[in-house]
Amino acid sequence: MKLTIVDNPLIKRDITYLRDKETREYQFRIALSRIAYCLAIEISKTFDIIDREVETPLEVTAGYKLRHQIVLVPVLRAGLSLVNSFIEMIPDAKVGHIGLQRDEETLLPVDYYYKAPKNLDVSKVIILDPMLATGGSASAAATFLKERGAKDIVMACLIASPEGVKKMNNDHPEVPVYTAQLDRELNDQGYILPGLGDAGDRTFGTL
Ligand code: PRP
Ligand code: URA
Repeated sequence: MKLTIVDNPLIKRDITYLRDKETREYQFRIALSRIAYCLAIEISKTFDIIDREVETPLEVTAGYKLRHQIVLVPVLRAGLSLVNSFIEMIPDAKVGHIGLQRDEETLLPVDYYYKAPKNLDVSKVIILDPMLATGGSASAAATFLKERGAKDIVMACLIASPEGVKKMNNDHPEVPVYTAQLDRELNDQGYILPGLGDAGDRTFGTL
């Protein structure tokens, strides 16, 4: 299984804030962005670097730069909540957007928007979505990006279900999944248990 669970005491505390139904939007967003920093750092360990000399005020020495363009692709709408933290860590990243909404009855993702930078084929593409539930949205996003040339894709989420991880591994075995938490299961409505409820609604206050 290509699954990495990014875990530390700060993430454990912040996941608890996110789960807590009493947590208000502004606290929810802040806790979420702290976890997103940790995910960005962990995923950055897979980035290739190349040598680049740098001139300090005293002498020339060895330095580095990233080999590949990084493209962040938040899945609208909840994925937007992860973008700022990733951008702060990778300021020269480009950002594409995919609009996918789960049909509440079929639980299948319906696409409504797509815009991404060129040259996906030579970029490292990071799909951002806090929730990997049935995996339908993440899998559809990866398929969409592959059809437009992406070859090197990573999925970053906050909470994953075993079902969602399995679907990603089946549909896109080459796409590593990074999550801060692997939860127990899905309920009949496709919500992750114990989960945190609807990530988009809790982030944007549309409950
Ligand atoms: C949520 C979430 C994911 C999707 C996960 O989005 O942000 O995109 O559900 O579920 P899945 O793995 O079963 O596809 P939602 O459809 O609620 O839209 P929103 O971001 O606009 O709230
Ligand atoms: N989308 C969410 O926002 N939460 C879930 O638990 C499942 C899908």
